[in-house]
Amino acid sequence: MDKIDAAARHTPVLLQRCLDLLAPAFEVDAPVMVDSTLGMGGHTEGVLRAFPHVRVVGLDRDPQALELAGRRLAPFGDRFTGVHAVYDEIRDVLARLGLPAAHGVLMDLGVSSLQLDEAERGFAYAQDAPLDMRMDPTTGRTAADVLNTYDERDLVRILRAYGEERFAPRIARSIVAARAKAPLARTGELVDLVRASIPAAARKTGGHPAKRTFQALRIEVNAELEVLERALPESIEALAVGGRIVVEAYQSLEDRLVKRALAAGATSSAPPGLPVEPETHAPYLRLVTRGAEEADEAELARNPRSASVRLRAAERVRPTPDHLLPRTPGRRAA
Ligand SMILES: C[S@@+](CC[C@H](N)C(=O)[O-])C[C@H]1O[C@@H](n2cnc3c(N)ncnc32)[C@H](O)[C@@H]1O
Repeated sequence: MDKIDAAARHTPVLLQRCLDLLAPAFEVDAPVMVDSTLGMGGHTEGVLRAFPHVRVVGLDRDPQALELAGRRLAPFGDRFTGVHAVYDEIRDVLARLGLPAAHGVLMDLGVSSLQLDEAERGFAYAQDAPLDMRMDPTTGRTAADVLNTYDERDLVRILRAYGEERFAPRIARSIVAARAKAPLARTGELVDLVRASIPAAARKTGGHPAKRTFQALRIEVNAELEVLERALPESIEALAVGGRIVVEAYQSLEDRLVKRALAAGATSSAPPGLPVEPETHAPYLRLVTRGAEEADEAELARNPRSASVRLRAAERVRPTPDHLLPRTPGRRAA
């Protein structure tokens, strides 16, 4: 199967819900949406089809995703612009394109099925491949760099924090012992090593024994949580008043950051006890989902990837007050 066919067959998670949530924000002249996680372009294609007056700017840090999505979306002509960028650069990208703001921002977090299926990229524990795991293979440290250079304490920390791995100290100890003989190079070696580090009884539960280690490494290699934490306020700042942000997260660490960033904007920043809330402290976001939405039975049947999705959305209701603007080095508060 051609890669484009494969992409077209992949069903975007909660597509119709995303379209319904974004629709009110597109009731303006010449609306712009930023798809911050273009991937194979499934959500973007849905938006371009459903809203013929919307222009989409699609970001991805993975050049291969941009190439495939670009080919898939070519029929939409200049209504689609693909940009190689990390999503915390959203405001710089819009500025470079001469666009003052976005009316919609969509973030469908994590790795794409394309990245998982491409064995050579090293994301999958089920296939032996070089220990890479970079979403952007043109830059930055690989999983092998992390495994072969981090000290044992840091390995324990990332396995615990990003993989919620109970056996982090044992696994880290085995990594350090193995690399003293020869640097780790292949995913298969890591899988064997993790398997051997986990007590037999624990191996029977909790899915594939290397799942949590691979998740932790992927998050570290791509600095996923640091980037997301910066990107959320940047994305909110990119929104015009009336604009909406929709975020789909697939693991609790990410969902917690999303929940916190949206709640911060949707809560008064006035000190408690003031008789009247000053205008400058009024919320600048309104939550448009109640808590996190999950996939229903029908979605689950269509799309197994939706099993762990947590979807949250908010609308910008006023400009962010000066005292709450994100502090980005080198950028003046606008
Ligand atoms: C789950 S996929 C998106 C799938 C897409 N919604 C679709 O329907 O085809 C996530 C994509 O986001 C990209 N990505 C993840 N983190 C990123 C970041 N910090 N900056 C830019 N792109 C990122 C990944 O490379 C991947 O292609």
